[in-house]
Amino acid sequence: MALARIVVSLGLVMAAMAARADLAGHGGPVKAVAVGAAGQVLSGGFDYSLIRWDVEGGRPAAILYGHDAAVNAVAMLPDGRALSAGDDGLLILWDLDDARPVRRMEGHGGRIASLAIDPAGRTAASAGWDQTVRLWDLASGEGRTLEGAAGNANAVAFSPDGRLVAAGGQDGFVRIWRVGDGTLERSLEAGGLAVNGLAFTGPDGLAAVGTDGGLRQWRLPHGEPIRTVALGPLPALALAAAPGTGVLAIGGVDGTVSIVSASGERLRRISAHRGAAWGLAFDPAGRTLYTGGADGLVRIWDAGTGDELGPPARAPGPATAPRVALAPWGASAGQDRGAVLFRRCVACHTVEPDGANRAGPTLYGIFGRKVGTLDGYPYSPALRTLDFVWTPEKVDELFGLGPHIVTPGSKMPVQVIGDPEERRALVRWLEQQTRPR
Ligand code: HEC
Repeated sequence: MALARIVVSLGLVMAAMAARADLAGHGGPVKAVAVGAAGQVLSGGFDYSLIRWDVEGGRPAAILYGHDAAVNAVAMLPDGRALSAGDDGLLILWDLDDARPVRRMEGHGGRIASLAIDPAGRTAASAGWDQTVRLWDLASGEGRTLEGAAGNANAVAFSPDGRLVAAGGQDGFVRIWRVGDGTLERSLEAGGLAVNGLAFTGPDGLAAVGTDGGLRQWRLPHGEPIRTVALGPLPALALAAAPGTGVLAIGGVDGTVSIVSASGERLRRISAHRGAAWGLAFDPAGRTLYTGGADGLVRIWDAGTGDELGPPARAPGPATAPRVALAPWGASAGQDRGAVLFRRCVACHTVEPDGANRAGPTLYGIFGRKVGTLDGYPYSPALRTLDFVWTPEKVDELFGLGPHIVTPGSKMPVQVIGDPEERRALVRWLEQQTRPR
């Protein structure tokens, strides 16, 4: 498998937005975060990639490509492998030590919104917008569909003993199945609006959050409602339970993360992200909370005090290049290095002529165009007042020095591609793909 070395050193300027250095590296919003038994931190995002973080160093240790769409869910197996799922309906099992994909599992007919792994690490569960909830044998890759799901499924979780799997979604119900034979045990009404996050809280508790902004808790095995905690009018997007303490973290569409005690007491509210807070994961001790959000960052918090921790300050010096894994299928297969690098841009840019702007303008016809002048795109004032024409050399410089140097004040997030050869490959690919036709 092709391996590339890309130095992506972000974070220095983005840290100016935050008191502490955050984990910056995704080329777009972060949808999911997971923490392994040994403290490995993994995230997945709109830029189609997964990043395994060097938390101490505050930078990506490995960037994994295998999905051909946004990555919505990541989960860690007890043995240190990882599973991811995305809008492409694929599940991919990864060996994180070797930074390589082990297996892909197909079956879902569309977006997979959520993933869970049973505590033994043998079975995965996935919930999708094809209105199915599926179980996967991780040794064989075989999948089966649970009977009785309805509506787009947004969230899925295993009970701590691994015997039950719960899923919830658009229809406002939480359903609980027996993992062994797939029997639907019960359906719990969760307030009528969509369920977006689910977590078991200890051996006999289940919690859900959703579009109505509330947290609901039930007692198992019979599913008596215990309480509803109103967290605010805005939709809640994600829920995680701290191992051991049963403390809950709830991510909101406004980027806040609420911390609620096991007994339903609201402990604190953190302004975690600019834009939605989608990804939530506690460390195995339940003390540290990792969050991922629409601002493209992974941030680290003391779950007890709500203080931001951030990676330890690092000595200045050259960053080690993260390992890059490309799956031998889909868009990564046998691909031009430049095309692979452009995956860091696709969350925000197309190369299409029809004004297909995303967060950033289409790059169609970029060479020879004056900076900040594509008709109909709302550039920042900074870009509009700059005065130069994009050439291959200038784009090379943009990622050699970083947008904060070449286009100061630009809305484009800071990203540096440290390897000149990688920059040349990206520019070469852009020259082919953006040429007026
Ligand atoms: C998270 C979103 C995001 C990502 C990822 C991103 N960009 Fe951008 N880019 C933008 C935005 C937003 C602008 C407009 C900036 C402004 O108006 O200040 C922009 C502007 C640009 C421009 C100037 C366009 C013009 O018309 O003057 C170029 C060139 C560019 N980006 C190239 C890239 C390349 C190449 C990549 C990938 C290596 C990339 N960008 C990744 C958001 C992004």
